[in-house]
Amino acid sequence: MSNSQAWNAELYDDRHAFVWKHGASLVELLNPQPGERVLDVGCGTGHLTAQIAAAGTEVVGIDASAAMIDEARRVYPKLEFIKADARQYRGPTAFDAVFSNAALHWIRPPEAAAATIAAALRTGGRLVAEFGGHGNVAAIAAALRELAPGYFDLRLVPDWYFPGIAEYTTLLEKSGLETTQAMLFDRPTKLQGDQGLRNWAAMFAENAIAAIGEGRRAEFFQKLEDALRDKLYRDGAWYADYRRLRITAQKR
Ligand code: BEZ
Repeated sequence: MSNSQAWNAELYDDRHAFVWKHGASLVELLNPQPGERVLDVGCGTGHLTAQIAAAGTEVVGIDASAAMIDEARRVYPKLEFIKADARQYRGPTAFDAVFSNAALHWIRPPEAAAATIAAALRTGGRLVAEFGGHGNVAAIAAALRELAPGYFDLRLVPDWYFPGIAEYTTLLEKSGLETTQAMLFDRPTKLQGDQGLRNWAAMFAENAIAAIGEGRRAEFFQKLEDALRDKLYRDGAWYADYRRLRITAQKR
């Protein structure tokens, strides 16, 4: 994970396990082979890093959050995790593959993350990544914008990066990576429990929610739920309006 907010690794694993659970199919797409070297960019608490390692790879997980890295090391003490900024990380040797799930939308400027990915790969090495694409969380962001005016301008709501296919493949191309597959698709994502939408906002727009002040927070959450119920609540559960950009690319 990356950006200026402090991450709560426990809360992340406890209430937002869907983030890495949805990543299992991305590991399948990576199709890691025994002996391959893989870099996991934005590894969070390391669950997908461990799935990649289970294939017999040598995997390194990097994340900008010390809390996430500490938790990953605690749970998977045999794996290598490094606290590192994906805009600057340069490893000692080339990797066969770079993997990244639900992380690249946190990293600005995106060109710096792409430069790190390109620098990490050997010639012919592959990138397999998925993150928020154009239109991701559009309804949630619109409601936050309306109900917490000014917080977007103050950068209290993260300046997420949600590109379309053309934009991102062009950016990769400029970094020396040729896109081999690109898909932009809706993936409404079920949040956990009745408090799912509140928990999502509290975790991922933490600075804005903190700025609202404790006394007004319950009212704010109520308004947020009222604004989004028609669009995002069905069959007794909240769904985040996720749109994913799934990309595979090869270093030229
Ligand atoms: C996402 O995974 O798409 C996402 C998560 C948190 C905030 C914004 C987007």
